[in-house]
Amino acid sequence: MPAIVVLGAQWGDEGKGKATDLLATTDPIDYVVRTSGGHNAGHTIVVNGEKYATHLLPSGILTPGATSVIAGGVVVSPEALFRELDGLIARGVEVADLKVSANAHVIASYHATIDKVTERFLGKNQIGTTGRGIGPAYADKINRVGVRIADLFDEKILTQKVEAALDVRNHLLTKVYNRRAIEVDAVVEELLSYADRLRPMVCDTSLLLNKALDADQTVLFEGAQATMLDVDHGTYPFVTSSNPVAGGVCVGAGIGPTRIDRVVGVIKAYTTRVGSGPFPTELFDEDGVQLQQLGGEIGVSTGRTRRCGWYDAVVARYASRVNGLTELFLTKLDILGAWEQIPVCVAYEIDGQRVEEMPMTQTEFHHATPVYEYFEGWQSDISGCRSFDELPKNAQAYVQALEEMSGAPIWGVGVGPGREQTVVVHG
Ligand code: GDP
Ligand code: IMO
Ligand code: MG
Repeated sequence: MPAIVVLGAQWGDEGKGKATDLLATTDPIDYVVRTSGGHNAGHTIVVNGEKYATHLLPSGILTPGATSVIAGGVVVSPEALFRELDGLIARGVEVADLKVSANAHVIASYHATIDKVTERFLGKNQIGTTGRGIGPAYADKINRVGVRIADLFDEKILTQKVEAALDVRNHLLTKVYNRRAIEVDAVVEELLSYADRLRPMVCDTSLLLNKALDADQTVLFEGAQATMLDVDHGTYPFVTSSNPVAGGVCVGAGIGPTRIDRVVGVIKAYTTRVGSGPFPTELFDEDGVQLQQLGGEIGVSTGRTRRCGWYDAVVARYASRVNGLTELFLTKLDILGAWEQIPVCVAYEIDGQRVEEMPMTQTEFHHATPVYEYFEGWQSDISGCRSFDELPKNAQAYVQALEEMSGAPIWGVGVGPGREQTVVVHG
């Protein structure tokens, strides 16, 4: 068996890449699977001091012996896929076997064009998307005018589908956004150019993964984005256009919920967010700048500076609840070594009332101000610690306090970007 889900419990960039790589190398893993999102993700893996970033590819692409799978819920830019693969090959990486779902929807260059134009049109209300075409590709899927990977192998069908997709889009581009129309033939030609290289990778990934689970193989589902960016459960409309929560894994992979054994929520010892949208514990002072700098909080995909704030236990409890987390992996505890006192948001104050759980409406969430509890810092470098007992007493107390207020046990703590820089709390 086991099927293990790794997902983001905040607004992304929690260290899912590191957590996935860690799990994939401590126990033998047969499959590492992406089930939602696309190349908007940026996952960092540090192996023997060497840094790798994956975007559309599962981190398992670096794990010898594991098969990487891009399942049906992912939106796939063939251009980005091969650019990423070729980048790894050029670095001398022996890339793992890769399978791509025939059902996955395609991101063509027009999706990125529309993404960027829409953002410009929104002006100060913009979402702050990655500009990769993710939203427009999912919109086409839901509008039933999407192109799927399987369509790339039939030129006639592909042409019909691209025509249908561009019909309304071109009206919008030319009449509303004042842009040039996109030509069907150029899009078809571009997409067809990837077909031969894709063909051997394409399969029914749902069948593949269910058979693997039947055969007691181990499947790791590597989440992208995060709970608070979920289109249904996040800070809508400042979200991505997919379901990064645990439930989305079943839909995206084509497996049943009864298959899943562990759901690991990756969570930073503080909070970051890229793009627009509410963020109650955001800091606008020197502490925020220090978190950003010490934590190296710069986006892996877009190079944007991440907004920073203290740990938010209301968000943690919410993530534990909507994902049914069996455990948490707490990352970047080492970054907090610089503070004498560390504030943790334990509740919100909304219109003069103390609120312990995520408020029901986005308006209330926008008005939430954090209620802080203060913990003594440890003011030392913990990046060399390898066991819970080696951590300074105040760091142990911080981890234990977070565990009590976050709704799930903390199985491990990250004390540095490297795979080995991990402290197991509950083995
Ligand atoms: P992901 O998108 O969730 O995979 O996370 P990102 O890769 O975008 O951002 C996490 C960053 O934190 C990366 O630079 C990681 O190398 C780094 N990182 C992960 N865990 C730790 C940790 O425990 N300590 C430190 N200092 N860095 C970490
Ligand atoms: P990983 O997997 C952080 C954010 C964008 C924007 C919003 C919508 O590395 O954690 P989109 O391009 O998806 O339509 O943008 O979602 N966003 C992320 N933020 N980490 C990510 O991925 C993200 N993927 C999307 O910044 O606010
Ligand atoms: Mg990231």
